[in-house]
Amino acid sequence: MTAAVKHFLDLDEIDAGTLRGLVDDAVAIKQGTAGTDRPLAGKTLAMIFEKPSTRTRVSFEVGMKQLGGEVVVLNGSELQLGRGETVADTARALSCYVDCIMMRTYEREKITEMAHHATVPVINGLTDHSHPCQLLADVMAYEEHRGPIRGKVVAWSGDGNNMASSWIHASVRFGFRLRIACPPERSPDPDLLAWARANGGEVELMHDPVAAVTDADCVVTDAWISMGDDDTSRHNLLAPYRVDETLMDRASEDAVFLHCLPAHRGEEVTPGVIDGPRSIVWDEAENRLHSQKAILTWCLS
Ligand code: CP
Ligand code: NVA
Repeated sequence: MTAAVKHFLDLDEIDAGTLRGLVDDAVAIKQGTAGTDRPLAGKTLAMIFEKPSTRTRVSFEVGMKQLGGEVVVLNGSELQLGRGETVADTARALSCYVDCIMMRTYEREKITEMAHHATVPVINGLTDHSHPCQLLADVMAYEEHRGPIRGKVVAWSGDGNNMASSWIHASVRFGFRLRIACPPERSPDPDLLAWARANGGEVELMHDPVAAVTDADCVVTDAWISMGDDDTSRHNLLAPYRVDETLMDRASEDAVFLHCLPAHRGEEVTPGVIDGPRSIVWDEAENRLHSQKAILTWCLS
């Protein structure tokens, strides 16, 4: 009997113990206390990008190489996929050559289909729906500054986008309370909130950023316009949700600020917050490297 392929598609599809273990592994990797030096020697990762990336691309590539493996980076438009070959056939072909596939794309269905047809693990490197890899780095950054995230209050102020979805998944899996403040028109998918409720999560959807942030332990935001989206009229709608010094001052005294980056200073966050003493965004960014290594090792073990 062959073991099931371990895909990393979304946090709601992976159990809490496994996710906790991945963050702990990432911490051990960062601290240099993880086991084998080059556990992925002889393995190759293919990365497909249908959207731009700085952190995800570089951290996966550097991480895979540091683990002893090889990387092939594929721009979606340069693949036959870009001129009509099916996702299923792309998955079958890549599975003949590589040991793992990471994909950044638009529709979540493409990743699901890739995983369905691939015979190697598939990692979700962001879709319009979610960004699960980022959340491991985010939880890790919070915990290295403030201790266990379980039972803490995280406030999201901004667009109810793919990052907000993954924060909803993470709140259930890591056991923290989540308050999401966003314009009603930009609320996360109601199915996600229903999933959180059904799984014992404490996720509150609100439309007042001050109410969401008051006494929170962690304040998070993200771009108002995500990749693949060009609705700039949304700026007016989202302006009240900007994380500025006044809003940040409503949070708990030792609250930290997170942003997955890239940031747009003056839009979703002011320079005073993102470049200020409560921001831990550069540890968050660094942790992408350590957590990608944990994910790759898990998928390929
Ligand atoms: N946070 C993040 O995924 O950044 P990139 O778009 O640069 O990969
Ligand atoms: N919400 C952003 C996240 C970027 C890492 C986007 O999808 O563009």
